Amino acid sequence: MEPEVLTLADLDDLLALCRAANWNQTEADWRRVLKLEPELCLGIRASGHIVAAAAAVTYPAWEGFPPLAWIGMVLTHPDHRGHGFARRLMTLLTTTLDRRGFAVQKLDATSMGQPLYEQCGFRAEQPIERWRREPSKKRVHATGVVEPFQYDPALDLPAFGWDRSRLLPSLLEAPGADAALTEGGFAMGRPGAIATYFGPCAARSPLAAKRLANWFLARHHGEVVFWDLLPQNGEAQALARSLGFRPVRTLVRMVRLAPGSTEPPRRDGHIFAIAGFEFG
Ligand SMILES: CC(C)(COP(=O)(O)OP(=O)(O)OC[C@H]1O[C@@H](n2cnc3c(N)ncnc32)[C@H](O)[C@@H]1OP(=O)(O)O)[C@@H](O)C(=O)NCCC(=O)NCCS
Repeated sequence: MEPEVLTLADLDDLLALCRAANWNQTEADWRRVLKLEPELCLGIRASGHIVAAAAAVTYPAWEGFPPLAWIGMVLTHPDHRGHGFARRLMTLLTTTLDRRGFAVQKLDATSMGQPLYEQCGFRAEQPIERWRREPSKKRVHATGVVEPFQYDPALDLPAFGWDRSRLLPSLLEAPGADAALTEGGFAMGRPGAIATYFGPCAARSPLAAKRLANWFLARHHGEVVFWDLLPQNGEAQALARSLGFRPVRTLVRMVRLAPGSTEPPRRDGHIFAIAGFEFG
């Protein structure tokens, strides 16, 4: 069973994989990755169905810093685990990315995936947490000015460290997606299979992040909401807690760096919500 490149014809199998793993990803999420990176979505087929997958989303090089590949959607159907499928996919994906010059490769690892990633040359960088808010009848009131979203590299690039001008607009293509801009920050959200997803949110101050989170919750207070954040940003944790979110799981952000490469500077303190475990 050799890895193959995934296509839209595999969508039903890919969604079945996500449901078997209780993941939040929707059809729109898979369509986005397949559209952004048609050559970097890989799968393994058994009895005619895709039973294992792995994909990467890429961000371009800039000012002498290497490009970044973010690996995600690594999952194997429970009936087919332990046969080396994820290892085969990860080996092919990382060597393909090496060949294409992606000197920085990253991912957010579950405890099930971490041993495999360590064997593939990734090392732990920092923890990452999923926070969850239950539906509430209490209305949240939007505070301060928010405007329609527009990609602003001056805001996002110093925070994330790489150019997300391709990813961010593609997040808005999902039916039901939201985005807003305020002075010193922006935030987005999109529907999920289990919970509405808040993120990404980059903001230069906790006040801007609060305005954006309030804007989002004013629209989605009656829904379960997920918010993934870097606990190193204590302001993000404090804000999530004050708005009724609680931490529900911890993953590990991992990096695989080619020898001699350096990452661009970034400000984790300005990242109040990540874009998703599959995007960084
Ligand atoms: C993590 C996951 C993708 C591994 O898929 P897989 O196809 O079973 O993995 P492989 O058979 O290639 O095994 C690779 C390594 O995973 C680990 N692993 C596999 N099955 C395992 C099990 N039942 N218990 C603990 N570790 C296991 C081992 O380290 C293994 O290496 P080894 O063969 O040298 O022991 C799969 O368990 C999965 O889909 N889990 C749920 C979703 C998830 O957490 N994905 C990772 C997101 S970051």
